[in-house]
Amino acid sequence: MSFSQKYHQLPTFDKDAGDHESLQRKDPRKRRSPFLVIAIIMFLGASIPCMRMARSRAFLSACNGPQRNSSTLANLPSHYTLPSGDKIPSVALGVWQASQGEVGNAVKTALSTGYRHIDGAWIYRNEEEVGQALKASSVPREELWLTSKLWNTFHAPEDIEAALDQSLTKLGTDYLDLYLIHWPVAFKEGTTVLDEDLTADPYPTWQKLEELVDRGKIRNIGISNFNIRRIQNLTANNLKYQPAVNQVELNFWNPQPELLQWSKENGLLLEAYSPLGSDKQVGKSLSVPEVKDIACKLGITPAQVIISWSVQRGTIVLPKSVTPSRIAENLAVFELPQEDFERLETAATSHTPQRVVNPSAGWKLPFDVFDGQ
Ligand code: A2P
Repeated sequence: MSFSQKYHQLPTFDKDAGDHESLQRKDPRKRRSPFLVIAIIMFLGASIPCMRMARSRAFLSACNGPQRNSSTLANLPSHYTLPSGDKIPSVALGVWQASQGEVGNAVKTALSTGYRHIDGAWIYRNEEEVGQALKASSVPREELWLTSKLWNTFHAPEDIEAALDQSLTKLGTDYLDLYLIHWPVAFKEGTTVLDEDLTADPYPTWQKLEELVDRGKIRNIGISNFNIRRIQNLTANNLKYQPAVNQVELNFWNPQPELLQWSKENGLLLEAYSPLGSDKQVGKSLSVPEVKDIACKLGITPAQVIISWSVQRGTIVLPKSVTPSRIAENLAVFELPQEDFERLETAATSHTPQRVVNPSAGWKLPFDVFDGQ
């Protein structure tokens, strides 16, 4: 089976969108004048960022008591150094769930705001639009940090390079700064059937990634969604390159203090995906009383409190937004005073952890992918 045949057989994450669109197109009563539609889009495009900016200001003006001027807060590290010596920016634009049609503008806004780190993946199905935006921005390639991820269907060593090449072509680059094994779960070629051997021991996958590092197509390799047991299972092999990062869900609801501690002790940098709790929990995250209190006291927004806390915990943070004002807001991280940092850490680690992302049941795995952490 050719690579592109395999590609088309994969399940898509937004299968309902197409059906919904074609139903709308079939119903002539639902047709609107294109001028009206354009006028509505232009109005919303112009007013939503303003409304959001006004909302941040409104948030701060609703605070009681004295507020600190955020310009007096110290900065947090802008980069971390990986074992290769490469410096990875501590805040990235995450593009998971940034749909086609909006992800390009999000990337362009991010780059013009100062982001240099874009966190994507083959499975997000938006790499082509990301690549077009990178090209349009004309930021030199060497100033960018591009991450992509190897999907579960391509763990077999003979499938990896073709999958990587697809991402490279779509992104319009000849190397990635970081390539991650997206999940510690391998599916058999072109299917969603578990490949038990490669799942139990991903060393053959890792060896192929190491070879691609040596050949210059990838600068750093890492893992994603690995728990401690699965990391140890991989690193028990005689690795040429240790995983540079582990990208996992880390947010107020799922702060994973043990994994964080263990990773620090073992020199493995964590990357926090869904740091705001993703679209499902962002509202709840921004309304946590401790988060709101600290935001008010420091004169920053609740999202900035959470994103700053993530960097201050020593992790890379990957907030996703397609909204210009939020994209700008999310890049501004500040060092929280120690008492505020500890207050938030205690609040985050004092409730029962709750994950947003766990595909084990959806993939009909005979185990929970996070078990044994
Ligand atoms: P949008 O993309 O429409 O701006 P996470 O980073 O945890 O995955 O969260 C992403 C969700 O949080 C998206 O729904 C995104 O909305 C929203 N979001 C991102 N940044 C902010 C912010 N600064 N304030 C409020 N919501 C935000």
